[in-house]
Amino acid sequence: MLDWDHIFATRSSRMKASEIRELLKLLEQPDIISFAGGIPDPALFPAEEFQKAYADIFSGAQVNSALQYSVSEGYKPLRDWIVADVAKIGIDCTADNVFITSGSQQALDYLGKLFLSPNDTALVTWPTYLGALSAFNAYEPTYDQLSVNGNRTPEAYRETASKAGGAVKFAYLSADFSNPTGETIDLQGREKLLALADELDIAILEDAAYQNLRFDGEPVSPILALDIARSGGIEKTRTIYSGSFSKTLAPGLRVGFVIGAMPVIRKLVLLKQAADLHSSTINQIAVEHVASRGFDVQVAKIKRVYSGRRDSMLAALAKYMPKGTTWTKPEGGMFVWLTLPEGMDGAELLAKSLATEKVAFVPGKAFYADGSNANTLRISFSCANDEMIDEGIKRLGRLIGNAETREHEALPII
Ligand SMILES: Cc1ncc(COP(=O)(O)O)c(C=O)c1O
Repeated sequence: MLDWDHIFATRSSRMKASEIRELLKLLEQPDIISFAGGIPDPALFPAEEFQKAYADIFSGAQVNSALQYSVSEGYKPLRDWIVADVAKIGIDCTADNVFITSGSQQALDYLGKLFLSPNDTALVTWPTYLGALSAFNAYEPTYDQLSVNGNRTPEAYRETASKAGGAVKFAYLSADFSNPTGETIDLQGREKLLALADELDIAILEDAAYQNLRFDGEPVSPILALDIARSGGIEKTRTIYSGSFSKTLAPGLRVGFVIGAMPVIRKLVLLKQAADLHSSTINQIAVEHVASRGFDVQVAKIKRVYSGRRDSMLAALAKYMPKGTTWTKPEGGMFVWLTLPEGMDGAELLAKSLATEKVAFVPGKAFYADGSNANTLRISFSCANDEMIDEGIKRLGRLIGNAETREHEALPII
């Protein structure tokens, strides 16, 4: 056997299969109630609409260009559709500011590649999207905790970054219904972030993967829209917005996008030419067909179903969770975030659950850049029906309640 590690680049040492992902593979058993996956319900995919779109493409003159190589920026009619769609939420841009990626995950990889030299600092929320940490890890950054409503000074961020041997380059966050917490950053928090980014002279990476999935409450303007309004135009902004059709149409298409100032888009285009030339031509065309014929109807359908499931989950949590456990109350998205009593470990709880209650969730520490906060977990309501939610949360409540009792029994009596 070759000693591959000796030949691999040093950056590969940060690419590790997460223990949790390995554990979750064990959960694909039929008797498990799973709140673990953060994936859309396939029953809600607009399958017929896509069937019609592909049939139209194959039956017309478009088939040749659909199967051909295409430009790295992305399919122009799709970029035009995105320009018109985001104008509704205050993002005033042109098709030149829009770049199509193979899923928004690819945007995270490219943005990591574009901004991070080894030892540079990426500011991330604590917790943050696990896939963002995986994408950035390859570029050997250090992470520092982005405190959205906190009182850390720009100097404190700068000092930590320089101790780590680099500079702060960007703040990455999901402002709406984040993965994993389901929480939203309010207008004041967004304004503070922009002010902080100005002071630090860094980019903001706004991951808007769940932005379309608001069930209730007042919409808050995207950070990019606020940035455009403040600075006087997209070319003067420091916010780079990534969007996705994965949560609204279907993730298997791998179509996402980035919106930002032209100097950033031009660099991303060069990165794409080197990486995969362009995103799937035919899938971009199909997405444009489906989106322009009924995106809002599709989004309304998904929101109706997911908001009902969110309600069931919150009702079940209120009914079954033992005292000492708290949870978020998301206004959209796919996730609820639980904080267990201090000292309890979500990963240990999952192992116990596999053996006893058979309910699956994701232990929270995977979402922390420093692996802290073991007493947290993420549950998703997107793929479970009301009965599964009630039964699953009942089991989870019992599991936490029993773990709590055992914890107390183990305490020495003094
Ligand atoms: C916050 C967030 N960003 C990005 C992604 C990547 O999505 P995609 O590459 O399918 O657009 C996900 C997927 O779960 C996510 O939760």
